[in-house]
Amino acid sequence: ALVTTTEMFKKAYHGGYAVGAFNVNNMEIVQGITEAAGELKSPVILQVSKGARAYANHTYLVKLVEAAVIENPDIPIALHLDHGDSFELCKSCIDGGFTSVMIDASSKSFEDNIAVTKQVVEYAHAHGVVVEAELGTLAGIEDEVVVESGHESYTRPEEVEEFVDRTGCDSLAIAIGTSHGAYKFTPDQCTRNADGILVPPPLRFDVLEECMKRLPEFPIVLHGSSSVPQEFVKMVNQYGGNMPDAVGIPEEQLRKAAELAVCKINIDSDIRLAMTGNIRKYMAEHPDHFDPRQYLKPARQAVKDMVAHKIVNVLGSNGKA
Ligand code: G3H
Ligand code: 13P
Ligand code: ZN
Ligand code: NA
Repeated sequence: ALVTTTEMFKKAYHGGYAVGAFNVNNMEIVQGITEAAGELKSPVILQVSKGARAYANHTYLVKLVEAAVIENPDIPIALHLDHGDSFELCKSCIDGGFTSVMIDASSKSFEDNIAVTKQVVEYAHAHGVVVEAELGTLAGIEDEVVVESGHESYTRPEEVEEFVDRTGCDSLAIAIGTSHGAYKFTPDQCTRNADGILVPPPLRFDVLEECMKRLPEFPIVLHGSSSVPQEFVKMVNQYGGNMPDAVGIPEEQLRKAAELAVCKINIDSDIRLAMTGNIRKYMAEHPDHFDPRQYLKPARQAVKDMVAHKIVNVLGSNGKA
């Protein structure tokens, strides 16, 4: 059924797991994600960015998600706005059938962030919709906004309680060293392991634990949580791509976060990477094929396999529907 994240997060918090929030942009992505969640009896969040809405159109995305809900009647599915940047955008999604919205005013001042978040919460709650807000800024790129690494800032735990009290938000995204995109860290921020693979700096679990102390039983969200599996970076590069030094968050660290107060983990780049790697491979191996179904089929399967892997090995949400 199409639901809010309220029950999902309550169960995840107490069950020591997290719910995956996967970005959707087209039919194959919606199908791949929900087939995996359906087979594994896992709750799932389908999230739509401003860019996704510009690409695919609001109505197409809502109807694709409604179809997925019909096809997967046994699992809870939430439809969430990712990185809403204004009250108007949040309102449009609340009015248009979303069950959850994010207002991301994390680049604004503390007071301005509170003001707009509060405005969204009032409208959302009056319409049965829940709100995710953000404190602290991640490095990386999202919707054309680039935050240079070194200019990100960790969430200040001493601010979280006042922020949640004054806004009434239902979940809080925090910055503990995750980052958006496939290039989360520059090589000079990393060390190299024996195989020459870049190893990023560890997540700031001390910041997460401080936030947890101040917000008991409150669901925390992690953005920028792709792991950029080297298997797929290699596949892209082997079949004509060029993605040097792409690096993500190690899955063990995300698994540890999921066991704590983190109830929602956002993954987009890993799905993109799996699709693109497989399409490149298919194209290279079948230069005479030109029916889009031929290469979108393995791409959709790659999405499903990636999401199943995340559900079982990172989120721990299998069997929790
Ligand atoms: O955090 C951003 C998400 O990965 C969505 O990306 O804005 O390119 O759709 P997008
Ligand atoms: P990744 O780029 O690490 O997949 O993060 C996605 C995200 O945070 C969407 O909001
Ligand atoms: Zn994000
Ligand atoms: Na958790």
